Amino acid sequence: LELEPYRNPAIPLPADIFPNRRNSAGIDLSDPLEREPLLDRLHELESRHWHAEPTFASGADAEIAPINKPHDLTAEVGTRRDTLDFEVEEAITRAERIQHGWNALGGERRALLLEEAADLFEEHTDEFLSLCQREAGKTLQDAILELREAVDFLRYYAGEARRLFEGSMPLPGPTGEENRLTLAGRGVFATISPWNFPLAIFIGPAAAALAAGNTVVAKPAEQTPLIAALAVRLCHEAGIPEEAFQLLPGAGDVGEFITSDPRIAGVAFTGSTQTAQAINRSLAARDGPIATFIAETGGQNAMIVDSTALPEQVTRDVVASAFQSAGQRCSALRVLHIQDEVYDEMLGMIRGAFEALTIGNPENLSTDVGPVIDPDAKAALERHVARRKKGGMPVWRRRLHRGANAGCFVAPTIIEIDSILDLKRENFGPVLHVVRYKSSDLGRVVEEINATGYGLTMGLHSRNDDTRAFVEARAKVGNFYVNRNQIGAVVESQPFGGEGLSGTGPKAGGPHYVARFATERVVCIDT
Ligand code: NAD
Ligand code: ALA
Repeated sequence: LELEPYRNPAIPLPADIFPNRRNSAGIDLSDPLEREPLLDRLHELESRHWHAEPTFASGADAEIAPINKPHDLTAEVGTRRDTLDFEVEEAITRAERIQHGWNALGGERRALLLEEAADLFEEHTDEFLSLCQREAGKTLQDAILELREAVDFLRYYAGEARRLFEGSMPLPGPTGEENRLTLAGRGVFATISPWNFPLAIFIGPAAAALAAGNTVVAKPAEQTPLIAALAVRLCHEAGIPEEAFQLLPGAGDVGEFITSDPRIAGVAFTGSTQTAQAINRSLAARDGPIATFIAETGGQNAMIVDSTALPEQVTRDVVASAFQSAGQRCSALRVLHIQDEVYDEMLGMIRGAFEALTIGNPENLSTDVGPVIDPDAKAALERHVARRKKGGMPVWRRRLHRGANAGCFVAPTIIEIDSILDLKRENFGPVLHVVRYKSSDLGRVVEEINATGYGLTMGLHSRNDDTRAFVEARAKVGNFYVNRNQIGAVVESQPFGGEGLSGTGPKAGGPHYVARFATERVVCIDT
């Protein structure tokens, strides 16, 4: 089945309207003139102590919790002061009060504020990179990519505020009747984000909600509130009113309290499938207006490699997809399917590249694989590997470096399994599973991948166009990558998001995302 690209010229894309918008340039670490001064500046920030608290913190007594480096649990990066229940209620009251005015500002003025925030983010590159490394345990390369994505989200959604929220769309009608459709903010949006993209996925949904005329109460992950606090402070410096964008640090209980408030008009959540299901149930049980729910969740992401694939390219892309960011990307490759005829050769090459990975302190430039986020994440991954070892299937593990016990390191691991359906849940870390398949079984392989119920990313390495068309037509995933790695979706080029157990669908960084945060209003005037 050959799929023809379809394009309705009546619906302009953002690129048609803003042909000059460019994604941010980032930093080229291979250039010593960029790299060395950056490393010096990051060195100066090593001892900076950070703090996160609610935007309008009351003077009430509240616990202060330390935030330590994932790669050195004895090193404190800062502290977190959680939001108390009455502060959540007051925050929503403030956000509700100012929402009409924020919406009435219009798309152009909201766009200018988001663009100012993007510029400030770039000016504060060093602090963001330092926090990504120290608070979230990211390598410098990952930190740079994260900041770029955050800036791109701000600028792209600013463009969407202009495209969708300036003026209204005229609709047809008989003579003497004027019809028009406008988009408006829904009210107060809650954004609840994960630790694995503590900046990009914290700011992305918040920026989209703000672009659409909502006010936002934002709860970052409990592991990474410091980088979120800096992001919110810079948005305020850019001119976004404090009441319109409030930070509410805390753990899951704070998130639960926010989403159970009937004044919350919508929730944009990114995190695990289980938490999305809990929030969905809690929203359904609430009194009051029916809330919009946007969820971006986990995956059981597969890649298929057939005998026509190029072995060197496969090796590079598998290692990046499975082990970059210590496998802590929702998009990361979890289950690699290799065709029988090339299985031993491909697996041998992948294992060779896997043995060459440098594991260690993410603040060292040479590190490829840093820590996982916390002791709970490490324990869950270790339990999974131990169960698989007990099952008797081959398991290869890297040896950890000296001193690894001070942090949350998990040795990168490759495990052979019979079928993707042997895995009952997402294993969020540097663990790759490998399945051998016969070419006559390709249809069954795709069916099994679909049968997991997840639908986030899928990769295919094949030089055969019929195979590509066959898999593409059947794959139930949000993002399908051919002959490349399957991580690192780029704003506007690869809008990102999944289906089924992987989320409710609207794609971050795509042309339909911001409209999902808005309500549509039609006015009909008898002239
Ligand atoms: P998580 O579900 O444990 O937590 C996510 C957020 O939800 C945190 O802020 C947490 O405090 C909050 N939370 C927890 N319980 C809550 C409740 N009952 N009500 C409201 N809020 C609650 O997920 P995580 O471990 O932080 O993140 C990793 C997960 O995120 C992985 O499953 C990964 O695949 C997924 N993820 C998905 C995407 C995507 O775009 N699809 C992107 C990044 C991460
Ligand atoms: N957008 C992130 C990626 O594609 C999750 O890796």
